[in-house]
Amino acid sequence: MLIKTGSNGFQHVFSSDITPVSVYQNRRELMRLMATGMAGAAMASWAARDALAQSVTVRPGKLAALAGAKSNVAGAITMEKTTDYKDASSYNNFYEFGTDKADPAQNAHTLKTTPWTVEVEGLVKKPAKYTLEDLLKLSAQEERVYRLRCVEGWSMVIPWVGYSLSELIKKVEPASNAKFVEFVSLADPKTMPFVGSRVLEWPYVEGLRLDEAMNPLTLLSFGMYGEVLPNQSGAPVRLVVPWKYGFKSGKSLVKIRFTDKEPKTAWNKAAANEYGFYSNVNPNVDHPRWSQATERRIGEEGGLFAKKRKTLMFNGYEAQVGQMYAGLDLKKNF
Ligand code: MTE
Repeated sequence: MLIKTGSNGFQHVFSSDITPVSVYQNRRELMRLMATGMAGAAMASWAARDALAQSVTVRPGKLAALAGAKSNVAGAITMEKTTDYKDASSYNNFYEFGTDKADPAQNAHTLKTTPWTVEVEGLVKKPAKYTLEDLLKLSAQEERVYRLRCVEGWSMVIPWVGYSLSELIKKVEPASNAKFVEFVSLADPKTMPFVGSRVLEWPYVEGLRLDEAMNPLTLLSFGMYGEVLPNQSGAPVRLVVPWKYGFKSGKSLVKIRFTDKEPKTAWNKAAANEYGFYSNVNPNVDHPRWSQATERRIGEEGGLFAKKRKTLMFNGYEAQVGQMYAGLDLKKNF
């Protein structure tokens, strides 16, 4: 993603483009990194993250509500190997805790997740302030193994736990003029050291069209791997929108707001030409500065130089979501 570097404008951080020493053989890739001056920083960053992954896997433990849940949503399971917990919990984007992939796991222990409330407001008949406990009880928890594909070109396969956001939406009854849903993350400078930095405008805001938010695949998630979400993954409650680039999945949500206007989202505000509102995973539409045709699966043998996979249209969820975009020019509405 982009990092704003003050008067220098934008600079790209390729901390995802990193590799252990054992895979230097792929000279072309290494030369490319060398050419962009990224290799040194990338290697150091990978080494730091890998060390962290080995040491920091204190797991938050099970919540009764999360035990034994299985999915009943079509397309919410995959036969692909799930990413190791240590990778999924130590290679994160959560800019409130720093911009390096290793930062959230290191820094997010300061996040205070109890008590927690989520306000549902805007164009709804029944606005409400939910405690986390109320939210957990609102519907049966399911386990859904989803791919999550980051705009930076990497992906993971994670068993998320939660329920369809539509369950909550039905309870609050959107007004007839509600067309979009805005998701607002916590922005607490006391517990989130990078809130206040100029990387993004805070709070982190994401948005979906109402029909996207209602799609059964859109998951309000409280856990992963059968356990409570670790802080770095967006505890205590986050969104997972598996057919969109990862940044659409807002973490540590405190507000869900129904509107009649397309929400102004954090990454779109930072660089509108690079991050559109839709951000559907689409191998046919390149990011202005790199291809989106392939991806690296985090944790796979070979790191940066492991064989890349082809990125699938809508991240492989076309059967479940494709019809929502019939007639929409996906190049213009990227
Ligand atoms: N939510 C908040 N509040 N802050 C963030 O920086 N990063 C996004 C998204 N949600 C982000 C966020 C990005 S860029 C990605 S790729 C995913 O979270 C990463 O989720 P993961 O760490 O669980 O893989």
